[in-house]
Amino acid sequence: MKGIILAGGSGTRLYPLTAATSKQLLPVYDKPMVYYPLSVLMLADIRDVLIISTPTSVPAMRSLLGDGTHLGMNITYAVQPEPNGIAEAFLIGADHIGGEDSALILGDNIFHGTGFPGLLRDTRKNLDGATLFGYPVSDPERYGIGELDERGNLVSLEEKPKQPRSDNAITGLYFYDSDVVEIAKGLTPSARGELEITDVNKEYLRAGRARLVRLGRGFTWLDAGTHESLLEASQYVHVLENRQGVRVACLEEIALRMGFINADECYSLGERMTNSQYGRYVMTVARSAA
Ligand code: G1P
Repeated sequence: MKGIILAGGSGTRLYPLTAATSKQLLPVYDKPMVYYPLSVLMLADIRDVLIISTPTSVPAMRSLLGDGTHLGMNITYAVQPEPNGIAEAFLIGADHIGGEDSALILGDNIFHGTGFPGLLRDTRKNLDGATLFGYPVSDPERYGIGELDERGNLVSLEEKPKQPRSDNAITGLYFYDSDVVEIAKGLTPSARGELEITDVNKEYLRAGRARLVRLGRGFTWLDAGTHESLLEASQYVHVLENRQGVRVACLEEIALRMGFINADECYSLGERMTNSQYGRYVMTVARSAA
């Protein structure tokens, strides 16, 4: 299975924070935002990841994450010249996907919850068509919305409906079989001029091949697209990390735990950052695994 992180967009809702840098490189407490979606793909045991970003942001992304070898991964980059919509990721990423299944995650989406790694593994194993993740929100008109029948089957999908039929937002994490590239090729731009991911999902739904997994209470899904939600995301990570003494989305730790790198390799990644608490945490994790 191949992974894609879409880290595009002009981030105008975050101006002036994003006037000179990409939204997905802004800090969420102690690490750049893109670490969070990358950690999700790693937990799904995906080692081949394409990061799609704007022409100005790709070089910065590359200097942050390189080719991924240090994490036991293969990370490549591609440009989305204009913000033409999420589904364009499958046109830009068609060669990278190469006829396999794929997982797409949006670069500003943060997921955290007990049991999430197991859920990702199960999703991958049982994938048949498309798997989406739903999360109850208080402002459903801002999102793609999925409606379920009483048996939990997905029955309708709408993008940013004015009168939402449910509060079940479709999160920015999507698993697809290899049909997704052909489906994306057949799309036409929506009223807002974008190739909509919701239209891809509707195509799978029409074919009876879209499933929705509900992420319920006790699970956290945040998108860090506004000043308010960016601060909230940092506060959330800060409280959790301080209280428990663990780190969320620590890529080096995940690479170690997933068996992508060994304890010695992990330790030397921490050693490169001994001045930071993050770096010292990586060293501690590596030491206790050795
Ligand atoms: C996009 C999708 C929407 C989804 C959301 C999740 O919205 O179009 O369906 O619910 O991401 O973050 P956008 O970021 O374009 O507002």
